[in-house]
Amino acid sequence: MEYRAFGKTGVKVSVIGMGTYYDPAWIILSRLGIRPGYDRRLRALRVGLEGGINFIDTAEIYGSEPLVGEAIRGFDREELFIATKVWPTHLRYEAVIKATKRSLARLGVKYIDLYQIHFPNRRVPITETMRAMEYLVDNGLIRFIGLSNFSLNQVIEAQGALKKYEVASIQMPYSLMDRRIEADIIPYAKKNGMAVIAYYPLGHGRLIREFPRDALEVIARNHGPKTVAQVVLNWIISKHENVFPIPRASNPDHVRENLGAAGWRLSEEEIRILESIRFG
Ligand SMILES: NC(=O)c1ccc[n+]([C@@H]2O[C@H](COP(=O)([O-])OP(=O)(O)OC[C@H]3O[C@@H](n4cnc5c(N)ncnc54)[C@H](OP(=O)(O)O)[C@@H]3O)[C@@H](O)[C@H]2O)c1
Repeated sequence: MEYRAFGKTGVKVSVIGMGTYYDPAWIILSRLGIRPGYDRRLRALRVGLEGGINFIDTAEIYGSEPLVGEAIRGFDREELFIATKVWPTHLRYEAVIKATKRSLARLGVKYIDLYQIHFPNRRVPITETMRAMEYLVDNGLIRFIGLSNFSLNQVIEAQGALKKYEVASIQMPYSLMDRRIEADIIPYAKKNGMAVIAYYPLGHGRLIREFPRDALEVIARNHGPKTVAQVVLNWIISKHENVFPIPRASNPDHVRENLGAAGWRLSEEEIRILESIRFG
């Protein structure tokens, strides 16, 4: 596995992370303590950790924090980068702190590496939420503050609401079939030393289905056989120093495959060929 500085934080994070949003049914059932496919998902996460991935993304809403907590047991906590998110209905000062404590308990850890605001909430002043975030950093409950699903203006406003710390990262959808953030978020993040976390890096699976197989032959000529997942994840890390894809895989074989997305680089010409593909 390869590691890169997570923006200005300087923390070494694997270039490929792992997402743990499964599906709405999993979220609902997990509230009842029912977690279908738990063991397989646990194995998948452990394959990633054993393969050197140290970055796992979850959220209080996903119902997967206990799974992540179990997956990381036995691994060196200091080497891991655990990211979770606070839901927009918990953005009042006291609510943020309570939500953090619940996430810590579910994850079974003493601190969260990256605590992200899952979505903005216009009904809560961002200054109030950020005051709570700074309290959490000051008290060692979280290390870094992140955002998710914020527009560029909202990112700038959120940064302005912080008194002592900087926004470490912004999590947005990004893949070969959804390049909207190249217009604003990515350049801003690059300029300001912010990491970008790419969610839906496989287009929620759609990219795997729709990617034209003949494009793989061009890549194979220079790099040996690569799968669609490996190519489209590599496209992100070849193109950007500061963008970290977090594919989710319930299938351990998929994680094994995704590990092979690191350790090589597409050429500029190959990147151009991939970017000329038109998706429906
Ligand atoms: N911040 C937000 O609002 C937000 C929103 C959505 C997602 N996210 C985060 O981003 C993560 C990734 O998004 P996502 O899970 O929705 O979409 P994704 O990672 O783009 O795609 C997941 C799909 O790709 C499949 N897959 C994974 N590796 C594969 C491989 N090597 N070959 C073939 N198929 C493969 C998975 O199958 P299997 O599961 O069967 O292995 C699953 O069906 C989430 O888990 C979550 O942590 C954040």
